[in-house]
Amino acid sequence: MNILFAASEAFPFIKTGGLGDVMHSLPKALNKLGDEVRLVLPAYRDVLASVDTIRELGKIDVPGAGVRHEVRILRAHEDILGDYLYLIDVPDLFDRPGNPYVHSDGYAWPDNAERYTVFSRAVALLGKWIPKTSWRPHVLHCHDWQTGLVPAFLSMVHDPPATTFTIHNLAYDGRFSHDEFNRLGLPAYWWSPEYVEFYGDFSMLKAGLIFSDHVTTVSPTYAKEICTPEFGYRYEGVLRSLGDKLTGILNGIDLDIWNPQTDKYLAQNYAHDAHFAEAKATNKQDLLNSVGLQGSDKPLLGFVGRLVEQKGIDLIIAILPRIFAETDANMVLLGSGHMPYEQDLLYLTAAYPDRLHVHLGYSEDLAHKIEAGVDMFLMPSRFEPCGLNQMYSLRYGTPPIVHSTGGLVDTVVDTSLLTIREKTATGFVFEEPTAEALDSKLRSALELYGNPKLWHEVCTTAMQQDLGWETSARKYQELYQAEVDAKK
Ligand code: ADP
Ligand code: GLC
Repeated sequence: MNILFAASEAFPFIKTGGLGDVMHSLPKALNKLGDEVRLVLPAYRDVLASVDTIRELGKIDVPGAGVRHEVRILRAHEDILGDYLYLIDVPDLFDRPGNPYVHSDGYAWPDNAERYTVFSRAVALLGKWIPKTSWRPHVLHCHDWQTGLVPAFLSMVHDPPATTFTIHNLAYDGRFSHDEFNRLGLPAYWWSPEYVEFYGDFSMLKAGLIFSDHVTTVSPTYAKEICTPEFGYRYEGVLRSLGDKLTGILNGIDLDIWNPQTDKYLAQNYAHDAHFAEAKATNKQDLLNSVGLQGSDKPLLGFVGRLVEQKGIDLIIAILPRIFAETDANMVLLGSGHMPYEQDLLYLTAAYPDRLHVHLGYSEDLAHKIEAGVDMFLMPSRFEPCGLNQMYSLRYGTPPIVHSTGGLVDTVVDTSLLTIREKTATGFVFEEPTAEALDSKLRSALELYGNPKLWHEVCTTAMQQDLGWETSARKYQELYQAEVDAKK
């Protein structure tokens, strides 16, 4: 099967979160199973700088907001996908530094509607015809709102490929005004609640939901949650109306990149064998050295992630003073995001310089060192479509402490007398997204940490979970096949 993936980010070229990881690891898994996946991204400045060879395949003329853009279709070479990375080059829209979605001051680029409409128009053309190759996709797999208009544009052409749309995060929906809709010259009949109109705006995410052949999200639990008002962001009605056109397929992780046995960032590689505890201690010491903390004999907590409300970072900020006052745990935190959270974390480091290290920014190296070097990983997300960090920590034998939501429910088994006896416990799961519930679960984890034998058992059970892509990649294959068959 030929599949064209369309997305706004992909590791290792440009990544702001888990979407980037999945855009690398899922194509790789599908290719291993015998499919041919190609990927198309916007030609951001950082992407152009990170690929080896670039060839121009052709030029097309694409309407934007009142102007037409000359768009170059490029093909780049990349190790995993070989020659099959396509780039949509429109310097006016994508030749910008840093984060793909926001300016360095943290605000969204003001022309995002135009940027991703032009990208989606170009991708829809590739769905039908790619210059200088006879390869045609049977399925166009679009990810998140930035590609939501692709199935919409394809609905207007004869004999389009099948389309799959995956929601990685419903909280980001690409909503723009009616004026913007008009400026972009989108078909007038789309402005209706049946199509892309959404509470007085238009929504690119909704276009993906309405116009694609099938919609998936990244865990079975999140697929159910988003059909309720609590998690649906007012899309619950549309989502419920999709019926069995909406399914949840759990993300996997890249077992080559996130592998404690080979990870090049670690002081000592390790497996779930007799040397586990000793290797963990070496990595902990290395992490403490690199962040300038002491306390190799004290429990060490970790967090890596975007500093936004979704991740429950405010719950961590709320409990840290009492954790530092009442226990001997220390913490290393890596992240960037919402300014007020960054500010609160800086105040906390000033108040507890010997107990807390905060690295504001992005660091691939430190993310790996934290997964391996801390004793427990905090992920109190209010909602979590899937979450990759808890899976990385499971693989690194670092029990995650998670809120019972979305993909966290589908990947972490709470530690209890029963799950310890059954040898299925892999972490700690709390029910309510409150500081009290997180605090109380963390205290239970710290208590168990005081029992090295049981702690070791939870860590090594976590490491043995099946977290790779194979099972889920096969589910995508079945879905693609069903979509293609339905079109015949
Ligand atoms: P989300 O996609 O919602 O941000 P995930 O858990 O699915 O959450 O994926 C987050 C990914 O981004 C992981 O690979 C994580 O290591 C990475 N990441 C997030 N913030 C940082 C950071 N500041 N430095 C390095 N990696 C980060
Ligand atoms: C989103 C979600 C996260 C998920 C990732 C990859 O960013 O917030 O839960 O793991 O996409 O699908």
